[in-house]
Amino acid sequence: MSPTSAPLQTATDAAEAMVEATAERVQRPRRLRRTGALRRMVQETVLTAADLIYPLFVMEGEGQQEAVPSMPNCFRYSLDLLLEEAKAVWELGIGAIALFPLIPHHQKDNAGTESYNPDGLIPRAVRALKQALPELLVITDVALDPYSSEGHDGIVQNGQILNDETVAVLVKQALMQAEAGADFVAPSDMMDGRVREIRQALDAEGWVNVGILAYSAKYASAYYGPFRDALDSAPKFGDKKTYQMDAANAREALKEVELDIQEGADIVMVKPALAYLDVICRIKQHTNLPVAAYNVSGEYAMVKAAAQQGWIDGTAVMLETLTSMKRAGADVILTYFAKEAALALRTEQDKA
Ligand code: PBG
Repeated sequence: MSPTSAPLQTATDAAEAMVEATAERVQRPRRLRRTGALRRMVQETVLTAADLIYPLFVMEGEGQQEAVPSMPNCFRYSLDLLLEEAKAVWELGIGAIALFPLIPHHQKDNAGTESYNPDGLIPRAVRALKQALPELLVITDVALDPYSSEGHDGIVQNGQILNDETVAVLVKQALMQAEAGADFVAPSDMMDGRVREIRQALDAEGWVNVGILAYSAKYASAYYGPFRDALDSAPKFGDKKTYQMDAANAREALKEVELDIQEGADIVMVKPALAYLDVICRIKQHTNLPVAAYNVSGEYAMVKAAAQQGWIDGTAVMLETLTSMKRAGADVILTYFAKEAALALRTEQDKA
């Protein structure tokens, strides 16, 4: 039938039209959308709690839980409360957490010395977590920014970020984290060649089973704003464009991924996620390694803000967004929504 055909006048016309349509439409995609069970049966992408990594902010103190204003429902936890939160997420089926420290100002310097202090906040957190929850995977961030008086991911000299001198510090940081019991170290600094040097050092020290989750395609993004609020880690001058990638580039992401694979990465990551789904998709086609996506702080904040205004259904948008990342090719998603998503998925299952 053509779209310009006259409106149906009678029941006989309608019946005739149906016979005609039945003859024409061999394929009726709606047949597979008829009921919930059917839709679930043919669903291509199934998001589960096991796909998610929960980033957690840790700080000094006891019994402390500080809200992060630009990230509703996210907190900085002192060690004791961090353990409680970790237990809760483990019980929800989330298998991994990623730790980020709030470092007091007096411990920051240009060389990021505190980043490899074996009695620092992160190694103490890792030891406590591993003792309480040995099965929960603990991922530690390798970069200088939370420890840097300059707020940069590397050592600064005359306004430049030094590459090789920084890598030497990152290696010490990664070794210290492995020693504390981290399952994966996650270099997020974007210095050249750091994956190889970290892998070699880990192997030389006997940490052959400690993995590397490489922030391979990490873009210089305005979406990191709320995270820098959470850790008080914003750059003191300039931006991060001489080491993080230009948002306009996708082929360069493949180059970075290729290098990290050659250098020994176990999992490669794209960050941010939502504005870079095409990059996730291309990397997925390019490698057989698991691909991770980081649903970053600004992506989280946007959804939360609109939901708080009542402008969107926050839970539905959260699940749709996370599903889009998995559909694009992410095997693993780092997200501040992890706990909420695991809860929502459980509720959905109960309803089904
Ligand atoms: C720093 C680091 C950043 C994030 C993770 N590790 C910030 C940055 O590069 O400035 C951002 C995460 C987020 O926004 O959720 N190495």
